[in-house]
Amino acid sequence: MSDFDKYSTPLSSRYASEEMSSLFSSRNRFSTWRKLWLNLAIAEKELGLTVITNEAIEQLKEHLHISDEEIIAASKQEAIVRHDVMAHVHTFGETCPAAAGIIHLGATSCFVTDNADLIFLRDAYDIIIPKLANVIDRLAKFALEYKDLPVLGWTHFQPAQLTTLGKRVTLWIQELLWDLRNFVRARNDIGFRGVKGTTGTQASFLSLFHGDHEKVEALDKRVAELLGFDIVYPVTGQTYSRKVDIDVLAPLSSFAATAHKMATDIRLLANLKEIEEPFEKSQIGSSAMAYKRNPMRCERVCSLARHLGTLFSDAVQTASVQWFERTLDDSAIRRISLPSAFLTADILLTTLSNISSGLVVYPKVIERRIKSELPFMATENIIMAMVEEGVSRQEVHEAIRVLSHQAAAVVKEEGKDNDLIERVKNDEFFKPVWNKLDMLLDPSTFVGRAPQQVEKFINNDVADALAPFQEKINDAVVNLSV
Ligand SMILES: *[C@@H]1O[C@H](CO)[C@@H](O)[C@H](O)[C@H]1NC(C)=O
Repeated sequence: MSDFDKYSTPLSSRYASEEMSSLFSSRNRFSTWRKLWLNLAIAEKELGLTVITNEAIEQLKEHLHISDEEIIAASKQEAIVRHDVMAHVHTFGETCPAAAGIIHLGATSCFVTDNADLIFLRDAYDIIIPKLANVIDRLAKFALEYKDLPVLGWTHFQPAQLTTLGKRVTLWIQELLWDLRNFVRARNDIGFRGVKGTTGTQASFLSLFHGDHEKVEALDKRVAELLGFDIVYPVTGQTYSRKVDIDVLAPLSSFAATAHKMATDIRLLANLKEIEEPFEKSQIGSSAMAYKRNPMRCERVCSLARHLGTLFSDAVQTASVQWFERTLDDSAIRRISLPSAFLTADILLTTLSNISSGLVVYPKVIERRIKSELPFMATENIIMAMVEEGVSRQEVHEAIRVLSHQAAAVVKEEGKDNDLIERVKNDEFFKPVWNKLDMLLDPSTFVGRAPQQVEKFINNDVADALAPFQEKINDAVVNLSV
């Protein structure tokens, strides 16, 4: 069977970035186990276990990166012993004979499997956090560029009042800022399962150190420190609590909702022909309808975002059914949901980055739509202006009501443009404000504080939130693999 004869997940075969794919690869998994074994040996030696020689440590250090041959050898061994961790202990020992007798000393499988998972979760956040900062930065620039451009606002997806394009984009950005805060919090809350033994009591290590409790505690802390963790969970069963997985996945699922909402807005705007996602010269929209320019990137975002949104519930379900010190019914589902969640989040961010730096705006279409709706919105202003000229508010209101209904009939029944302003101009009653109509109909007077809100939000809130990531923010083109 070649690769073409097997199912492979589109997350890695089609969409994911190389760095995220390789983080969750077999090679990185097994190499990380090796790193854990090495650091366990280093710490045990530091704390006085003389059976661990310098030569053993040197050999382990030299072979942290597992080779293809070793992965194959370990999987052959696994077929015999039916235990992946023991198969890798064996293979590592063959490569490092001076260390063969002390690899995994005092540990249980979860020492490598669980601690490695926590390292992957932390490192995966370190990949996506700067990507999210980048998306926010790109959208912030776009929002500033269009802070003054009036657009028709929608409530119930029915024409409402005006806002500006930049202001609309700040609504997306604010949600992304919350996602950034959630990502960073979740990342910094990830602790280390540490050196805890089979049921979490550290019994094997207590006997290894002849009853010296302080050394056992020191070992737990030292290995965590060597792996770059400030937090070690103070108590664990055999595994770290699966509630940690809930807290790690929750921000990703919440971010999925942000991505879905934003991509949907862009899809609706594409239908209105006001905004389009980037479209390449050679891109084909439809195999039959050659004129089509489908918002396929945003559709992909929505599709994957729904998947990511549901992964949170995998973690909730799995944490709820853990029995006592552990069960193994968490294993298979975690192999799928944890990598999927980060691969999917990574793809969403790459795609959003590509979209947000290439959005195409059609100001004439936007203006045309405003012109067809604005006359109705302007009626309040016309009434006010008439009152200032000494006319009774009730009389003006009635006159406007009659003309508005006539204009609405022209639009809906005859399919023609809104002619309310023409009617006002032809009605002597409105003569006192004829010379003010242009001013009363200037769209920029309908956007309230939108431009000021955008400026303040981007220059204060967004700038503060992005400050820690400045070095990682850039304008590089983000290519999509397909
Ligand atoms: C988006 O991705 C496409 C396809 O890889 C690429 O041609 C284009 O330059 C990218 N656009 C941006 C703005 O990153």
